[in-house]
Amino acid sequence: MVRIVSIIFLVILIFSCNLKEKIFQTSPDGKVGIALVLTDSSTPAYKLSINDKTLIDTSCLGFDFAGIDDFNSNFKITGIDKNSFSETWEMPWGERRYVENNYNQLSIDLKHKPTKIKLKLVFRIFNDGVGFRYEFPEQKAVSELIIMDENTQFNLTGDHTCWWIPGDWDIYEHLYNTTKFSEIDALSKRNHPNLAQTYIPENAVNTPITMRTEEGIHLCFHEADLTDYAGMTLKIDPEKLIMTSELVGSEITGYKVKRTLPFTTPWRTIQISENATGLIGSNLTENLNEPNKLGSIPWFHPIKYAGIWWEMHLGKSTWDISGSQDSNSFSPDSETPSSRHGATTENAKRLIDFASENNIGGILVEGWNTGWEHWIGFEDREGVFDFITCYPDYDLKEVVRYGKEKGVELIMHHETSGAPRTYEAQLDTAYSLMKSLGIHTVKTGYVGNIIPVGEHHHGQWMVNHYQKVIETAAKYNIAVNAHEPIKATGKRRTWPNIISREGLRGQEFNAWASDGGNPPEHLPIIAFTRMLAGPIDYTPGIFNIKLKPYKPDNQVNTTLAQQLALYVVINSPVQMVPDLIEYYEGHPAFQFIRDVGVNWEQTLALNGEVGDYVTIAREERETGNWFVGSITDENPRMINLKLNFLTKGETYDATLFLDGADAHWDKNPTSYKIEHLTVTNSSDVELNLAAGGGAAISIIKTNPEIE
Ligand code: NOJ
Ligand code: CA
Repeated sequence: MVRIVSIIFLVILIFSCNLKEKIFQTSPDGKVGIALVLTDSSTPAYKLSINDKTLIDTSCLGFDFAGIDDFNSNFKITGIDKNSFSETWEMPWGERRYVENNYNQLSIDLKHKPTKIKLKLVFRIFNDGVGFRYEFPEQKAVSELIIMDENTQFNLTGDHTCWWIPGDWDIYEHLYNTTKFSEIDALSKRNHPNLAQTYIPENAVNTPITMRTEEGIHLCFHEADLTDYAGMTLKIDPEKLIMTSELVGSEITGYKVKRTLPFTTPWRTIQISENATGLIGSNLTENLNEPNKLGSIPWFHPIKYAGIWWEMHLGKSTWDISGSQDSNSFSPDSETPSSRHGATTENAKRLIDFASENNIGGILVEGWNTGWEHWIGFEDREGVFDFITCYPDYDLKEVVRYGKEKGVELIMHHETSGAPRTYEAQLDTAYSLMKSLGIHTVKTGYVGNIIPVGEHHHGQWMVNHYQKVIETAAKYNIAVNAHEPIKATGKRRTWPNIISREGLRGQEFNAWASDGGNPPEHLPIIAFTRMLAGPIDYTPGIFNIKLKPYKPDNQVNTTLAQQLALYVVINSPVQMVPDLIEYYEGHPAFQFIRDVGVNWEQTLALNGEVGDYVTIAREERETGNWFVGSITDENPRMINLKLNFLTKGETYDATLFLDGADAHWDKNPTSYKIEHLTVTNSSDVELNLAAGGGAAISIIKTNPEIE
């Protein structure tokens, strides 16, 4: 009897050892590990370790489907597969030319015993983190699934420090909060400084959310390849230290996602780094997207662009021709309202002249088309815009012609006022017009509630709309810079005509936010949170920091030198040069904006801590020149910069745009100085950043090779 029992015990032991071994996989460097288990209730769950230490504890996986009792337990494993993958792919534009994509994969086939529904879980383990997703193959048991919610857990192993924004279903334009995980209280953030109330149904956060453990490990939770699915927020359990996926829903359909099989969910991602800067160096999100579907897109070149834009945010001019939409704006008595329309042919030509003289490749013109009299708060009229009819004082063809003569492209503007159906009905007409004029970039906008009310910006319906815009635009050789967008999830790899987007509190908040604008720590947080998702249209470069005389009660909360540094710190292939021309003309510091690149061979995050400071160096494609940006929060800081990334044997002229000795983001923001140095790769530079300050450096080869 004893023998039989011990044989059975041995068999169980051998079987469980094998199983355990089979469902464990590490990253190529062996540091990150994933283990898959079935819990006592036969619920699939994963565990994540770094250097053999548990970082994410047993976290369950499952779904609530309409019409199915329980899809969270009662599974059996029917297959296990492991393989490895390694490639280098090229970015047509971006923060680096070549991206390494190396991972080990672990796939588990599961069968849900009560319903016989088959499901595959796929984990990709990289040196810089993990991505996993659910795959529902075509099968007899089911042909369509209605997801009421996805129950993906992230079971944290400590009360980490978190940088988070609330899980708003419509807008990501919230200030980041810095709290312990157990102190996250998203519901207290429902009141937005400029929108009455935003839609935040649960104590949930949006992604990316960045965390730091007590040991100094940095984590960022996000998603990759968000396609035909709802955006994911993460519900917070402050006591158990668990986050659970909470998909964005719709009051119209009552469900979160509806899909026909076969389908796969977006990847749930966890970026991991032993220091903060390692997060910036990671392209895990892009690596989890499909390769480029468009091939080369010679019609899009990264550019800087000026605009008829900031003047409206300052209230100096208006989007609409009657001036009626701007009650609290700057309006000198002597001017008649109609003279304040910004988008006139004359104004656009003035801007084109300025751009062509200053190495700025494009101009954006907002307020050019009819409808702006009714652009906010008219939800009962579905769509107040068309995208071809100009106001009478704006001659679109003439502006394009003049721009071409001067080598400056027009960036089209399509504000939809939250009416995607109206926009979709006009996409072909609007893009045909652009194509006929040779316009290759559009900035889109989705201000206000989505019409129909009940759909949300981040739900499946809108995810599909944003995708339709991208695919239609691609057919017309058009690149898209979306405002009020869906979050970036690395799709720029597949669709390189997704060039940039907003999806954060941009510079514009400094012109009109009633809460004092973006604080000095804003960008040192953004660099390690929102920016990990993808390029940002932030619109740096305001020189008239105090916004006088237009907005005497508002201001930009950085020094002028930090505004320059942001052209390097912020990743985007389109960078705005937004201030009014008169603040740039004749200003010595404007030279940095003229010179700075927008398309990069490589990017190095040299130093930084989340929310405190960051220094980034980028090498420009084609020229081999380098640009460095360093920014700090409200604390002054000394940064020791080693230029050992420069090419050995090469000599460079460095121009340093620095905070003046008495600079301070509030007390003296425009104090700056310019220094010149000859540098090599053995040079060291000491940068003294003021409170809310920064430093911007251009490092130009002394003897550029003649190509
Ligand atoms: C909000 C956008 O963020 C801003 O850039 C734009 O000027 C307005 N909407 C109008 O479209
Ligand atoms: Ca700080």
